[in-house]
Amino acid sequence: MVQFYAHTTPPTEPITLPRSLTVPLLDVSRELNHAPFITYSDHDLHNWSLKDPNGQDAVPMSDNIQSQLTLSGTSDEAGMYLVGLRMELRGAEALKLLGLSTKEIEAGNNIDVDRITTYLTQTTKVIGELKGILMTTKELVRPEIFFNCIRPWLVGADADKWGRKWVWEGKEEVENSKQMLTKVSSPTAGQSPLIPTLDAYLGIEEDDSKRSFLDRVRVYMDHQHEEYLQSLRLTKKIIKSFVQSIAKERGTNTPVVVAYNAAVQAMKSLRDAHLVIVTLYIIIPSRKMAKTSEMGAKLSSVDTSLASGKTGDSLPEEGSAVNNERAEEAAPIVDQVPELVKILKGFRDQTGQTCVE
Ligand code: HEM
Repeated sequence: MVQFYAHTTPPTEPITLPRSLTVPLLDVSRELNHAPFITYSDHDLHNWSLKDPNGQDAVPMSDNIQSQLTLSGTSDEAGMYLVGLRMELRGAEALKLLGLSTKEIEAGNNIDVDRITTYLTQTTKVIGELKGILMTTKELVRPEIFFNCIRPWLVGADADKWGRKWVWEGKEEVENSKQMLTKVSSPTAGQSPLIPTLDAYLGIEEDDSKRSFLDRVRVYMDHQHEEYLQSLRLTKKIIKSFVQSIAKERGTNTPVVVAYNAAVQAMKSLRDAHLVIVTLYIIIPSRKMAKTSEMGAKLSSVDTSLASGKTGDSLPEEGSAVNNERAEEAAPIVDQVPELVKILKGFRDQTGQTCVE
């Protein structure tokens, strides 16, 4: 509701969020230790219902869930949230398998290497399925709808197009609100707990850039997910160390080493697929927008010269105004693209380099 309120405030007015929205939200956020802004956890993990409420599934099944609320009212937005949800649901099995592998190794005596090999092989299969689910984005979400109709609703308090700050009426009534209101970023599936938890179990390397990315996004996760992820990140890489010791003793063709490397490669392949999605949904549309706006800027300069009486017929003013607005909007996104691609490719390459050789 706060997100909706902020983004329906006319651009000429300050964003002043009323006490009736802010105080309850801040109170609940403090209680849950959660950012008081919309996060991936809000629009994905806690934004679904069962299609058939009488279904007796102990665990909700992918085909019996639906997204509940959207900001844009488009089926694309609902579909986008469903992709994330289905990945989290399916991915839980991989987390379970990796948890079991860790337990088996930690137990110490008589480690059943074959069993660990089986767990890792099954994990690879699940990660492959995650990639398949991620790619269903192409069927469910139209890139131009994502870019032009969904993304603007999700922009956070740190990225207002008109540079306005969000003013929270009544914030002084809630303990810790000052500290909570520092967590202002826009939501992104980068806040998903699933992928970094898989990374942590598999011992995927973290360089400074990845570490700082994770430290930035983890404060937007549900508190218990974040604690779980942190505890894994801080413990030694149990599975990887075990596989390394076997590789040293028995060579890299040993089934458990092969199975581990396949799981790591599956994570790399998942990141390759994610890069395809980022290209389709962010890079191409932002370039298109920049191109349109270049044309808009050209048209509006023609317009100005026309207004000053230097040339012939007038062009419609409306088109250039829209294009100018799009030019302002496109500039920051286009500027961010090279850095974004560098970061994501870096994470992808680091994943591949984690293989035990
Ligand atoms: C339309 C769909 C999607 C788009 C446009 C998209 C875009 C992005 C962008 C721009 C980033 C860069 C950093 C950031 O701003 O957070 C990112 C990172 C990330 N996204 Fe997505 N994403 C999409 C779907 C998903 C889904 C469904 C998942 C899985 C649940 C996911 C998982 C991640 C992860 C884990 C990162 C962190 C980087 C990494 O670990 O490799 N994304 N995404």
